[in-house]
Amino acid sequence: MGFRLCANADLIDNEARAFRSPAGEVIVVNRDGQSYAYHNSCPHLGINLEFNPDEFMDSENHFLICSNHGALFQVEDGLCVSGPCQGESLLAVPIQISDGYIELIEH
Ligand code: FES
Repeated sequence: MGFRLCANADLIDNEARAFRSPAGEVIVVNRDGQSYAYHNSCPHLGINLEFNPDEFMDSENHFLICSNHGALFQVEDGLCVSGPCQGESLLAVPIQISDGYIELIEH
């Protein structure tokens, strides 16, 4: 069994939340019933994305946003589509759903 980040039911569509884990802080975001996970580290400066807890989505709840310099990232693949690190990506964290929980896939 991998490390459990949260219950799958805890996440609302188009909502992102951060969880501490043995792999560091992980952002989990839900869209259309799919969950995606990324390290909480902006490719621009390698620092956390948020200023306030769990503040990871842009005003339209479409992109993940870095509060530092406004980089926008696609939810589905973490690609930066706008901002100082355009073309770079958030580092994906492998996850799986097991018994209703989102957990890290251990290697
Ligand atoms: S640190 Fe994220 S955009 Fe600059």
